[in-house]
Amino acid sequence: MKKVVILYGGKSGEHEVSLRSAASILRHLDRRSFAPTLVGIAKDGTWLLQGGEVDAEALRGDAPLSLGAGPRVFAAPGAGLVVEVAGAIESLDCDLVFPVLHGSFGEDGTVQGLLEVAGLPYVGAPVLGSALGMDKEKAKELWLRAGLPVLPYLVVRTADLALPGAAESLETKVGGSLGWPAFVKPVCAGSSVGASKVSRAQELLPALREALAWDEKAMVEPFVEAREIECAVLGNAAPVAYVPGEIAPTHEFYDYEAKYLDPDGARLEIPARIGAEQSARIRSIAIAAYAACELAGMARVDFFLDKRSGEIYLNEVNTIPGFTSISMYPRMCEAGGLPYSELITRLAELALERHQRRSSIRFSR
Ligand SMILES: Nc1ncnc2c1ncn2[C@@H]1O[C@H](COP(=O)(O)OP(=O)(O)O)[C@@H](O)[C@H]1O
Ligand SMILES: [Mg+2]
Repeated sequence: MKKVVILYGGKSGEHEVSLRSAASILRHLDRRSFAPTLVGIAKDGTWLLQGGEVDAEALRGDAPLSLGAGPRVFAAPGAGLVVEVAGAIESLDCDLVFPVLHGSFGEDGTVQGLLEVAGLPYVGAPVLGSALGMDKEKAKELWLRAGLPVLPYLVVRTADLALPGAAESLETKVGGSLGWPAFVKPVCAGSSVGASKVSRAQELLPALREALAWDEKAMVEPFVEAREIECAVLGNAAPVAYVPGEIAPTHEFYDYEAKYLDPDGARLEIPARIGAEQSARIRSIAIAAYAACELAGMARVDFFLDKRSGEIYLNEVNTIPGFTSISMYPRMCEAGGLPYSELITRLAELALERHQRRSSIRFSR
């Protein structure tokens, strides 16, 4: 029996999504092999041990997990996780951690670094791959080097806007190299926050300011009328890519409302209705994108399929994708013959396997 700590909640705007993903994981966890301990990360970033009633509550219904007060939990360098009980520090029994944290301070390598320092195996991408999954600019640089198809882009930093004549020169640059309409989004963010379509030059500056409220870098791309195709990749050294699915937003693009607020915001189609050749190409690009970012465990690789030209563009990777039972990642695995419960078991095995393999690496003479 392995003791798995489910780490959920988190400081990011996707806290509520995490409560839902973690509840689904608890419901599907194979209890013959895994005993869960719940550690909730409050919105202020503190780690709090949750009682067994939270687990019991998750098993009963289909509500998101709750996250209440509890003893503080800390990652201890070289010593796993510890819990503070009545002023004393006790160790918290843990064989591996499943971070179910979407977005910043969870999916971006920060928590992964903390778990590395604590010496614990954890599910999902390592530090570097997690950070690359968050930084759309750096990921694209690697994908371009690997010869993978991505949309052309420009990156604008907060400091660039302060330069004299910034607005005009950026308008000229975007108009000349990308054209209108364009699309502006923060480089390191998620949930479509700060993202917008820019139909003409005068709209560029306000869109950049909005994106730059969410990060220090904004990315500008041509706006593509595209179908959104997603591909689930699973594995360490020899990852597999499942048959792609399609997410068809009912909004102009897959914005925050469509993702989280509008129950009819998008239609999910698994498998995506695309030809066998295109499907195979997407799967092979997904694996190459995964390898280029040195990912492990899992990732959902997202694509655009240009409605006019039929071209495929790699858009982004999500290293801790939505994990509710109706989320794309587990559903695409399920459609490929890997039921949700077995997926969790497989992810745990991959985490332990990677940890084991790395334990033979020499770090000093
Ligand atoms: N260049 C683009 N052209 C058209 N729509 C885009 C473009 N880039 C992003 N979008 C839309 O915005 C959504 C969010 O962008 P994305 O790059 O996936 O960032 P994130 O999901 O991390 O917020 C996409 O799902 C898509 O609907
Ligand atoms: Mg996205």
